Amino acid sequence: MKPVLGIETSCDETAAAVVGGDGRILAEAVLSQLAEHAPFGGVVPEIAARSHLRYLPEQVRQTMAKAGVGYRDLAGVAASSGPGLIGGLIVGCQFAKGVAIANDLPFVAVNHLEAHALTARLPGLVADGAPFPYLLFLLSGGHSQCIAVTDVGRHIRLGGTVDDAVGEAFDKVAKLLGLDWPGGPALEQLAETGDPNRYPFPRPMLRRPGCDLSLSGLKTAVSQTVLRLGEISPASQQCADLAASFQQAVVDVLADRAAHAMDMMRARFPESDLLVVAGGVASNAQVRNALSEAARLRGFRMVAPPVRLCSDNAVMVAWAGIERLRRGVSDDMSVSAQPRWPLEALQALAS
Ligand code: KG4
Ligand code: ZN
Repeated sequence: MKPVLGIETSCDETAAAVVGGDGRILAEAVLSQLAEHAPFGGVVPEIAARSHLRYLPEQVRQTMAKAGVGYRDLAGVAASSGPGLIGGLIVGCQFAKGVAIANDLPFVAVNHLEAHALTARLPGLVADGAPFPYLLFLLSGGHSQCIAVTDVGRHIRLGGTVDDAVGEAFDKVAKLLGLDWPGGPALEQLAETGDPNRYPFPRPMLRRPGCDLSLSGLKTAVSQTVLRLGEISPASQQCADLAASFQQAVVDVLADRAAHAMDMMRARFPESDLLVVAGGVASNAQVRNALSEAARLRGFRMVAPPVRLCSDNAVMVAWAGIERLRRGVSDDMSVSAQPRWPLEALQALAS
């Protein structure tokens, strides 16, 4: 199959990629809007949409040039069409449709979560190419879910957060500790010099049946401790201990929830032995180590794609487009961007 152009604009990364039909990455670019949102301590949807609109056209032009591919040489154009921030989704989706219409190409409306879910199938990432079914633990700033990926268009949600996403909890606690947004990486770094046993924070849902998780109680416990301690400086040992204790609580919860998810997966699909971890939080070394150990104890292999492919990118969108186009599926130009688009709403496709 000819290459596919992928476009990602669902949150605060403007990204474009050209991926060959065989999964080879011909060119990719990711432009982070971090600096634009940082003064506000979080993503501002209106700023995000305007920034996508400003930078996407030139980014696509440059990515196509770098790939050395003309528009007419493409097999199709794929864009994240939901879930996400509606302004950005409209920009990416409509731009992709424009390119498709102008060049008489098929358009694929990609579900952003499915794009994360199918990344593991990019040739070369997993030893045997991640055959279905496998278990995905998606840990990002906006989503935290355990998903049985059983086919293109077929995903069974086994569980997920009932309140905050894991990255969101890291960011909120980092803010309480006076760290800059997004706080996950800064909190991990601070935790390196801290004592994870100094503050016995709760481990919500530990050993409960199923694999749902809840982090708001843990976040509240940290908040109350910070209030009780009064002024704390981000440079203090106390702050490092708070960070390490919080991170340890999250790691314990995630390892326990992943273990339950693997048991649920085995019960439904006895042949499954692959746990794929994705999302920004998957770059946390403690999280990776704990999940890898939990997988080993269950006879699973844990695979985490490289960080640049775990966090938002357009390679995964192009690849999800390829998986669909290979099955002869594309979308009508009347399909619009959807801020809410659960994986369960997708249809299984015959291969
Ligand atoms: O997947 P991602 O890049 O973007 C989306 O949310 O879609 O994830 C970003 C999230 C942020 O909340 C960030 O703080 C968190 O992942 N994160 C981390 C680490 N690196 C990124 N959390 C904990 N430890 C890290 N090293
Ligand atoms: Zn994402």
